[in-house]
Amino acid sequence: MTKKILILPGDGIGPEIVAEAVKVIDCLRAHHGLAVETEHALVGGAAYEAAGSPLPEATLALAREADAVLLGAVGGPQWDALDRPLRPEQGLLGLRAGLELFANLRPAILYPQLAEASSLKPEVVAGLDILIVRELTGGIYFGRPRGVETLPDGRRRGFNTLVYTEDEIRRIARVAFEAARRRGRRVCSVDKANVLECTELWRQVVTETAADYPDVELSHMYVDNAAMQLVRAPKQFDVMVTTNMFGDILSDEAAMLTGSIGMLPSASLNAEGRGMYEPIHGSAPDIAGRGVANPLATILSVAMMLRHSLDEPELAARVEAAVGEVLDQGLRTADIAAPGTREVGTAEMGDAVVAALRT
Ligand code: IPM
Ligand code: MN
Repeated sequence: MTKKILILPGDGIGPEIVAEAVKVIDCLRAHHGLAVETEHALVGGAAYEAAGSPLPEATLALAREADAVLLGAVGGPQWDALDRPLRPEQGLLGLRAGLELFANLRPAILYPQLAEASSLKPEVVAGLDILIVRELTGGIYFGRPRGVETLPDGRRRGFNTLVYTEDEIRRIARVAFEAARRRGRRVCSVDKANVLECTELWRQVVTETAADYPDVELSHMYVDNAAMQLVRAPKQFDVMVTTNMFGDILSDEAAMLTGSIGMLPSASLNAEGRGMYEPIHGSAPDIAGRGVANPLATILSVAMMLRHSLDEPELAARVEAAVGEVLDQGLRTADIAAPGTREVGTAEMGDAVVAALRT
């Protein structure tokens, strides 16, 4: 049966990197029997400009019908002064909430070819393979009340709410334990239980859930220590599971261990395994339109889509192997450039991956 992929290029470098991922999808369709249809729609600042909303109804409706969504990136300085509901980021958050994509998988894998591009010593990161499981539809990102108010004495007061119900914690914990079973069988749950009641509950519920996974080893770590351990000895981790905001922060940190945030894909899944796939990096307005952005995180997001939503694990492995091959060939975009390699632009990198896929 033909599956539907909704393509949302978004803003900044989004359209450039997504164009390369679409080349990969087209190649799989033409030469490897992938049965998919694609459709494009607007999200983020691009949607605001065209339709007055960062998440037009039509886009959300198409996303609901699709088997998978591929998203580039959203945001840019030109939209930062808009009222919050109109800002590009609301397009992304609205998709996550609207599709109930509560489970965000962010693998941080070091390609051996890029060990020198990491800001850490090669021996500290060699063989690194961490999976960050970030809760994506709850926590302080969505908690109410929230806002900025003016007190009777004229001072302004800003507030957000960190809130999790136990079922929200249990379902993300299960995703982490299940993922751990398919890899190193270790889960480290990251919280701030020494200060925040909400994450004290988090720790209790994760511990309760662990009883169903006796074959997986559970540990707990405070988030400040986890941030430190990630740069001190990152290979101690297998699967990390954490709240929405802690996961946002720790996944950027983990990305840098692998040499470049331009390499890391992500999957955001709902309870049925339908998902949205996107690079974890942002829209990089400073380099947008110059054809220098790294498309590999987006291409690797296609691999995650093939595995998690399209039931095509072999094609996923092929795409990942093709990425490894272009790195072996010495091709590098500016963010991962190193002496002795050849610097290429966005399109040339995408073309090289397609060429590797065809052989
Ligand atoms: C991410 C991004 C988003 C987030 C922004 C763009 C809303 O940083 O996907 O990590 O904070 O979740
Ligand atoms: Mn982020």
